[in-house]
Amino acid sequence: MQISPSILSADFARLGEEMARVPDADWIHVDVMDYAFVPNLTMGLPVVESLLAATSTPLDCHLMIDDPDRWAPGYAEAGAGSVTFHAEAVKAPVRLARTLRGLGSRAGLAVNPATPITPYADLLPDLDMVLLMTVEPGFGGQPFLDMVLPKIAEARELVRRSGCDVWVQVDGGVSEATIGRCAEAGADVFVAGSAVFGAEDPDRMVRTLRGMAEAASSLPADA
Ligand code: DX5
Ligand code: ZN
Repeated sequence: MQISPSILSADFARLGEEMARVPDADWIHVDVMDYAFVPNLTMGLPVVESLLAATSTPLDCHLMIDDPDRWAPGYAEAGAGSVTFHAEAVKAPVRLARTLRGLGSRAGLAVNPATPITPYADLLPDLDMVLLMTVEPGFGGQPFLDMVLPKIAEARELVRRSGCDVWVQVDGGVSEATIGRCAEAGADVFVAGSAVFGAEDPDRMVRTLRGMAEAASSLPADA
């Protein structure tokens, strides 16, 4: 069970210090938005390069952008540990996933709440993670969408059947109130923005969320 705090909810004027507040995080989740794929604009490659220089925690880059085929490889080249592109935006997902892996990054495929995961089952051997959005992408602090829970279970089942080691990540509205449901359904990587950076002690919240996920998980302890 891994926790990936999203710096979308951190103080953008002090990102280095904010990352240092969550030393127990497994990843730092970086939401890249382009005012096109989503109605919000955040940060791009130059900021990610500075973040990489400022932390030893691996970066989990979630690209909510148009034309990831063109832009995603740059994040892998820069040294991101994981690069996730959206199914709704990508043109050649197999080629892009292979390119990302070839550059030394993990490759993730994200789907919005209304996008089914089953059509992407054949891609699993080329992927390291599927990201199931549990809010519409674009903003932090939105309420968790319970309608996605069956899809989490579906994704876990597709991964099990594939025999591939693919992580199932959930992103959006994950908190003490909702993480148990996600873990029970089969998620094993949890993005949390407002729940972590809105907490008085963000690192303690990381440990609390991980403990709750472990307690609720339906997966074997060594998975
Ligand atoms: C939403 C982003 C999320 C966001 C999550 O588009 O992809 O990563 O930061 O924030 P919370 O945890 O506050 O819903
Ligand atoms: Zn995200």
